[in-house]
Amino acid sequence: MDKLVALCKRRGFIFPGSELYGGLSGTWDLGPAGVLLSNNLKNEWWNSMVLKNDNIVGIDSSIVLNAKVWEASGHVSSFTDPLIECKICHARFRADNQKEIEEHVKLHEGKKEWTDVKAFNLMFKTYVGPVDNEDNKTYLRPETAQGIFINYKSVLESTRVRVPFGIAQIGKGFRNEITTGNFLFRVREFEMMELEYFIKPDEAPKAHRDWIEKRFNWYVNLGIDPKNLKKEEIKKEELAHYSKGTTEIWYNWPFMGFAELEGIANRGDYDLSVHQKASGRDLSYFDEETKEKFTPYVIEPSVGVGRAMLAFLLDAYHEDGQRVYLKLHPKLAPYKVAVFPLLANKKELVDNARTVYADLRKNMMVAWDDRGNIGKRYFAQDEIGTPFCITVDFQTLEDDTVTVRNRDTAKQDRIEINKLQEYLREKID
Ligand code: GAP
Repeated sequence: MDKLVALCKRRGFIFPGSELYGGLSGTWDLGPAGVLLSNNLKNEWWNSMVLKNDNIVGIDSSIVLNAKVWEASGHVSSFTDPLIECKICHARFRADNQKEIEEHVKLHEGKKEWTDVKAFNLMFKTYVGPVDNEDNKTYLRPETAQGIFINYKSVLESTRVRVPFGIAQIGKGFRNEITTGNFLFRVREFEMMELEYFIKPDEAPKAHRDWIEKRFNWYVNLGIDPKNLKKEEIKKEELAHYSKGTTEIWYNWPFMGFAELEGIANRGDYDLSVHQKASGRDLSYFDEETKEKFTPYVIEPSVGVGRAMLAFLLDAYHEDGQRVYLKLHPKLAPYKVAVFPLLANKKELVDNARTVYADLRKNMMVAWDDRGNIGKRYFAQDEIGTPFCITVDFQTLEDDTVTVRNRDTAKQDRIEINKLQEYLREKID
């Protein structure tokens, strides 16, 4: 993990948030390579939902919602973690975090003086408008899901989708976590990818099972070793306040072993029912074919972009002797290919390589490097996870071919320049 964190900083994937001013715990910024990886990841998720399913549409709702949404949804009363405070130094901890509590007690020579456990609400509070009073208080959303539920009727009325159908959304969520840590695993500001899939109540159990399979396979198809993944059904007493049943996809994190990567919940009709009651608006669904009226159940696959990114990065991290490379799936890799002139001071080589670079860049992210020697350039691209490196050399000037070096095997092919697009497309898609 330490090696990965260092690589992420060195190669422009992820920087500590507000580092210039000593940092801000639980926040991280995406650098140039990180934003490309994150966008590729979100595109893969979006395509697997909205592009591949004609009964799933997307929305982008506000981050700040009317406080009544959070009262109705149960987040004001129930979106809490158990908190205890050390009476000696006022440090606060999650009451279920035994490891940290034991470490803390050592600081006070074994003295244990704790407050009673209290429920700490994880939502960030804010005020809308110029007056900071209770009437204007609301929260930054801790999940994007509620933005979907409050727009469910508008989506039904403005599109042709009919139950079963889904609404997908990618956007920021905020949680004032008591303890953050393990890099991107637990942070206070993060993007989420959430699907709310509306279905007839009696069809919900099968849809739940199907989404668990689909989401598991999504990770495997994008390169995560299935040995590092498992499905875990959550015990009744540990379910979130809205859930009738949740199965999580767990990843084998190097810092804690298997733990949650993504949750797939059966939210029943909890959300539509509470919003119907609180808003006084009819949120039931009328099935034209069967003439039935019902409140749909909701199946919800939900994952944090950063947490997924961490799993993909950890799984991709490989060491082979001195060589370190990120074996990212080509669809996720920030750059699909890098182009080098063999020597930076030979004009014909540079001009030729520039033409290859500009041509490829019309269709994909391409990196350019003419610094140092070829070995160093390969080393840098391996660490960024670039699947292919093209070198324009003296033979290119004679026969219009280049070398294409494969990141994972370090083997090289000699390819005609006019066949490059086709060669790369085949390997990337
Ligand atoms: N709408 C459902 C929901 O919010 P959740 O299990 O609380 O469910 C969904 O969160 C996903 O968001 C988690 O599986 C995880 O991937 C991610 N996530 C939650 N809290 C996080 C945090 N503090 N930092 C990073 N990712 C987080």
